[in-house]
Amino acid sequence: MMRLEGKSALITGAARGIGKAFAARYVAEGATVAIADINLKGAEAAAAEIGPAAYAVPLDVTDQASIDAAMATVEEKTGGLDILVNNAALFDLAPIVEISRESYQRLFDINVSGTLFTMQAAARSMIRRGKGGKIINMASQAGRRGEPLVAVYCATKAAVISLTQSAGLNLIEHGINVNAIAPGVVDGEHWDGVDALFAKYEGLVPGEKKAAVGASVPAGRMATADDLTGMAVFLASSEADYILAQTYNVDGGNWMS
Ligand SMILES: NC(=O)c1ccc[n+]([C@@H]2O[C@H](COP(=O)([O-])OP(=O)(O)OC[C@H]3O[C@@H](n4cnc5c(N)ncnc54)[C@H](O)[C@@H]3O)[C@@H](O)[C@H]2O)c1
Repeated sequence: MMRLEGKSALITGAARGIGKAFAARYVAEGATVAIADINLKGAEAAAAEIGPAAYAVPLDVTDQASIDAAMATVEEKTGGLDILVNNAALFDLAPIVEISRESYQRLFDINVSGTLFTMQAAARSMIRRGKGGKIINMASQAGRRGEPLVAVYCATKAAVISLTQSAGLNLIEHGINVNAIAPGVVDGEHWDGVDALFAKYEGLVPGEKKAAVGASVPAGRMATADDLTGMAVFLASSEADYILAQTYNVDGGNWMS
């Protein structure tokens, strides 16, 4: 049996990487999925690849009008939103003495404000409709503890874990379950960029950081985006109706809590 039959989902930042893998799996489980991304061409290509139950929606999570327009599109197209995955995020790194205000602001705008105000818009839409819903925020092992070169990104992901707790407690009275997933290291275009940044600051050759972090995972390798889809389906399904305000590690054993 398909576990998301007839459900309407919106996934932010789903033009590539983890969000795209979630979109494909949600469609396979019977959902209709809005692939909402600032990269509209990428979102359209992802939707075309996944099939007719996926459609592209332009979205900049730092722009309230864009968030509201995306929610309106989903309501119009599907009759109402059942599932939001707050997945869009940006990564950067620098030693503390080199962090720029611009980088700090950009990361907090996308990763924290973007998560909060997209969650707010989805919650308003779900409350108006009166059928509850599921919200999944993408946190990270980076939100569980600091890292010497990754202060700002780590802080944004710690904020996502905290927002998930408060929103989970606040929204359950409307039948909306808010939870988060904390991946470890997931191979893909995102980590190619991370690898290049570490190479610059740690004097490594390209690919060296990736190989090292992969080897240090207790499971013996980096994750693929597909390794995370089971948790994303579970948290979006009725099997998770009694679960709220939690952050689940899907990280090959990197972090235990
Ligand atoms: N890849 C990893 O190792 C890893 C580990 C832990 C957590 N995560 C988290 O998982 C999520 C997905 O990661 P990924 O590896 O697929 O990242 P990614 O960089 O491959 O994809 C991010 C997507 O977000 C989109 N985006 C960027 N800014 C946006 C904005 N303002 N509005 C809308 N969309 C925007 C990008 O266009 C892109 O399609 C992120 O929240 C990330 O922090 C990733």
